[in-house]
Amino acid sequence: MQNVSMEKIVSLAKRRGFVFPSSEIYGGFAATYDFGPLGFLLKKNIEKAWRRWNVESRTDMVEIEGAIFMHPRVWEASGHVGGFADTLVEDLVTHKRYRADHLIEEAGIMASAGGLSLQEINDVIEANKLKSPDGNPLSKSKKFNQLVKTHLGATEDDTTLVYLKGESCQNIYLDYKMVQETMRLKLPFGIAQIGKAFRNEITVKNFLFRTREFEQMDVQYFCRPKDAGGYYDEWKKNRWDFYTQCMGFDKANVRWRQHEKNEKAFYATDAWDIEYKFGELDFKEVEGVHHRGSYDLDQHAKFSGKDLSYLDEETGERFNPYIIECSGGFNRLFLACLFEFYREEEDRTVLSFPAKLAPYKAAVFPLLRNKPDLVARAKSIFDLLRAEHMVAWDDRGNIGKRYYAQDEIGTPFCITVDFQTLDDDTVTVRDRDTATQKRVAVGELADFLRQR
Ligand code: GAP
Repeated sequence: MQNVSMEKIVSLAKRRGFVFPSSEIYGGFAATYDFGPLGFLLKKNIEKAWRRWNVESRTDMVEIEGAIFMHPRVWEASGHVGGFADTLVEDLVTHKRYRADHLIEEAGIMASAGGLSLQEINDVIEANKLKSPDGNPLSKSKKFNQLVKTHLGATEDDTTLVYLKGESCQNIYLDYKMVQETMRLKLPFGIAQIGKAFRNEITVKNFLFRTREFEQMDVQYFCRPKDAGGYYDEWKKNRWDFYTQCMGFDKANVRWRQHEKNEKAFYATDAWDIEYKFGELDFKEVEGVHHRGSYDLDQHAKFSGKDLSYLDEETGERFNPYIIECSGGFNRLFLACLFEFYREEEDRTVLSFPAKLAPYKAAVFPLLRNKPDLVARAKSIFDLLRAEHMVAWDDRGNIGKRYYAQDEIGTPFCITVDFQTLDDDTVTVRDRDTATQKRVAVGELADFLRQR
């Protein structure tokens, strides 16, 4: 990765149809984004790679897709109604609100202020005479619950109050017993899910990095309490390999950070973040690996009155399994892919995605658009390839401009149909990364792309 700025990433993402600001014609809506046509394709490919790595290549994992609306008691049991809060301070002049820990970190007072109590935050603000970004005095700190609320039903009162998912994984805990029984699973096993989460973040900035609606990619691994430490280490290694091998990120851009004692979420007995170097934002969390113990199953058993224990057929023992959680943010992974693979060269900008992630695997061009024979042959090759792969068509401008446009969206191969094609049924295949060209027989093209 080159030292690329967020501004360049945001600009390319919009210009080339990866990410659009939501509700743009109304002036946009803070920190909400739509994935455009190429962003959607990249998203699907990232999800496919994640699924292949975490579920399909293993025999101990299954995947579910849960609903966004859940019984409101779920969020009481999970601890979110009582404890899912950030600390805010208010600018006493403008009344803008800020996350207190972020202000302290951005002022360089502490590297990590997430675990400070209200009193400690007030003390730090006072001792350092910390002001708002507009230079005004700050209020005392207070807690602000992040759950997004709405009402379902014909009235709007306490009886119809529901929460949007504050973390996507809760369906997995509620469904774990049905999954285990219907799939006849034995410990250890894991349940994966890619699902939406919603958080009423006090401050949102940095493009896709912190938004109020986002997706999480979860693995929740259920095991015997005595085995949890070993599986925690195993999953940590797995997650490192996922970023550096499956996604192909440079090891220099990924690192681990353990949560301080007072920083851990209320459910975690141990917590490590995988951080990615997002350009000028520096290293920031992209995934959390949490040792949740039996907290979630204990809580849901207590609040629902239902037995969620697992019967160990070998020992005859009953217990609530321990859970190892790997919870990655999809939006952050998507953004990391843009940072990681963005490259500027003298005469071109390249997104050097691995072929499995690239929105289009190849683009097909007729050398000249005003030669009907070339166009017809190119169209037939385009149709042949798109039966199996996502392939782009381009017959505008000259070949150089077409290469430039495909490099910028990360297409690994450009296939040109020229006069020689009409003679010997070979085409020119130009490699995005090396810009070298070679001739390949049309009959071998589908296989050539399949192997990439
Ligand atoms: N179930 C565990 C859980 O929710 P978390 O650390 O709060 O843990 C997991 O969230 C991941 O979700 C984070 O590592 C991050 O990538 C992503 N995430 C959290 N809040 C986010 C936000 N406001 N915008 C984008 N991604 C977010």
